[in-house]
Amino acid sequence: MTAIVPTGWTPASWRQFEAAQQPEWPNEAQLEQTLDTMRTLPPLVFAGEVRQLSDALEKVAEGEGFLLQAGDCAEAFSAFTADAIRDKLKVILQMAVALTYSAGVPVVKVGRIAGQFAKPRSENFETRGDVSLPSYRGDLVNDFEFTVESRRPDPNRLLQGYHQAASTLNLLRAFTKGGFADLSRVHAWNLEFVANSPQGRRYEQLSTEIDRALRFMRACGIRLEDDAALHEADFYTSHEALILGYEEALTRVDSLTGHWYDCSAHLVWLGERTRQIDGAHVEFLAGIHNPIGVKLGPTATAEDAIALCDRLNPTKRPGRLVIVSRMGADKVSTGLPPLLEGVKRAGHPVVWACDPMHGNTFKHESGYKTRRFEDVMSEVRGFFDACHAADVWPGGMHIELTGDDVTECLGGADEIGGADLERRYETMCDPRLNAGQALELAFQVAELLKS
Ligand code: PEP
Ligand code: CO
Repeated sequence: MTAIVPTGWTPASWRQFEAAQQPEWPNEAQLEQTLDTMRTLPPLVFAGEVRQLSDALEKVAEGEGFLLQAGDCAEAFSAFTADAIRDKLKVILQMAVALTYSAGVPVVKVGRIAGQFAKPRSENFETRGDVSLPSYRGDLVNDFEFTVESRRPDPNRLLQGYHQAASTLNLLRAFTKGGFADLSRVHAWNLEFVANSPQGRRYEQLSTEIDRALRFMRACGIRLEDDAALHEADFYTSHEALILGYEEALTRVDSLTGHWYDCSAHLVWLGERTRQIDGAHVEFLAGIHNPIGVKLGPTATAEDAIALCDRLNPTKRPGRLVIVSRMGADKVSTGLPPLLEGVKRAGHPVVWACDPMHGNTFKHESGYKTRRFEDVMSEVRGFFDACHAADVWPGGMHIELTGDDVTECLGGADEIGGADLERRYETMCDPRLNAGQALELAFQVAELLKS
């Protein structure tokens, strides 16, 4: 593999550039002391695992796989339980099975999990009545509660985030490698509250077919016990690389290759608000060897997209970059085609993924921030249409979901209405698909992939 470290790059070189969306830490010395401590802590992921993901994404870029990136908008310190992690994993495994079985493509599973703690905000301050306080920037920075004390950025939270990510990863590794993700347990991933819905029944039917196929292979004398792919799942972690001090402190040299890896997650991404070509986030991501996501919204031009590709992947390594289109249902048919064409013409072998969530958020009259399932699906269809028209492989989905029975997004088979929002609205940030809506989306995406 050719080294891609740009001249002058170090894990700290981002500090010489303008960094958007950073908290105003009240005490710089305390922050730097915390980061020094973090530099001594073990990495959360290992370079070898990251390279495995790079290889899998290379296949996706070549049209031989599909990326499913999904999880919370913002993980919370307060909602940190084994059940919540397990149920999120169940939904992602279910979606992956639906996609693999119906569409016949291998699915690369990446969670927005074990580190998705920091949020970009449109405003630095939030005002309620005549009180203005710093905006909530995610549990990695400050607390959601609207008080002076809670909203003050606290570096100790970086350490707490690291430890929560470590425990989450520990559980995910146990679940995915320790029998829970065995294909013979495919029935057990159906969550109780989904099982009786139309998509739950459809999933049950699919599981039964998988059982039958496994029995058939066994009866033919194929030794299924020996094939790890049937008994374990490869599951990767990801988050937005927003708080650059945190990412820098977890960036390490791989002893095998001498390359730098951000060991806070397997994949990290650049948000729509931090993709400035001359900014600190782009500088930081340019030097690490992890696969990188870049969110592009409706204001992105083909020139912006190509400039980011040139900077972040000058050697044009397939799958090094995942471009995540998040246009909005009404803009995808005009916003995406020029980007697909431009990047293709420039010869950049990226993975194209669709985030049908962040361009479709609106404030419901009840005051809740929400999204309509039909808008989400409409953007997904627009994404597939644009990819087909440009003869580009629609390589993946980027979804905000939870394994819980929440009522945060409108519509879907359960027809969640405006009056239902207050029933179980639990997100710390953006509205997520519940487990039923997520499975429904997976079945519809599988149909699109098949055709
Ligand atoms: C997000 O993924 O939670 C997010 C803030 O997205 P974007 O940067 O696309 O707005
Ligand atoms: Co979000």
